[in-house]
Amino acid sequence: MTRECLEDLRNGVVLAELGGYGDGSYCARHGAGAAMVVMGTYIVDPGDHVPYPERFVFKPSRAHYLEYLRGHVAAAGKSGAKVAVSVVSVEKRDTIEFLQAAEEAGADCASYCAHSTMAMFVHYGLSSALLAIDRRQDLRDWATSIVKSVSISVLFKNGGSEDAGGRRRGGGPHLFRRGRGSCRRL
Ligand SMILES: Cc1cc2nc3c(=O)[nH]c(=O)nc-3n(C[C@H](O)[C@H](O)[C@H](O)COP(=O)(O)O)c2cc1C
Repeated sequence: MTRECLEDLRNGVVLAELGGYGDGSYCARHGAGAAMVVMGTYIVDPGDHVPYPERFVFKPSRAHYLEYLRGHVAAAGKSGAKVAVSVVSVEKRDTIEFLQAAEEAGADCASYCAHSTMAMFVHYGLSSALLAIDRRQDLRDWATSIVKSVSISVLFKNGGSEDAGGRRRGGGPHLFRRGRGSCRRL
């Protein structure tokens, strides 16, 4: 993502992740005038009974979602907004492969959902559980692996963490750019 693209996002409206709703046509319908629309969050998981809207769940491996992403990213782009694709999985490689496919499908931005409180993720210390103060290194590992795997910018959607006094800290999306070793708040 270029500096101009980041400038495009500044102060712009973002159509946020709406699992079960936010596919390409939904983003096209509701994203007009937005700076960015975020498709998903999608879940990539081998399980047969993921408790989530079925059409937002994919089995691992690009054969299961590449064509879907091509069609839906193109549709979302008709909104005129930048298109981000959000995903969460238990296995890190499943998130990475999905976001690589999203990039190949033409997405402008990749997004990891660190916002989910679903048991299937927090049980493994993932998604929102990665935001605990003592999990910083794990969060950094996830972030580094993802950022190194795609050329587009990567968003980390999070609701923040709590400090020792129970106060919320650091919520909101963080944008990571490859090779900069830094992240910027949108
Ligand atoms: C129906 C619905 C589905 C949502 N799905 C997701 C999701 O899949 N991934 C995600 O990161 N956030 C999801 N969110 C959260 C929204 O993207 C957004 O962050 C939230 O609604 C902002 O809430 P607030 O303005 O009340 O803080 C969802 C919200 C709603 C209402």
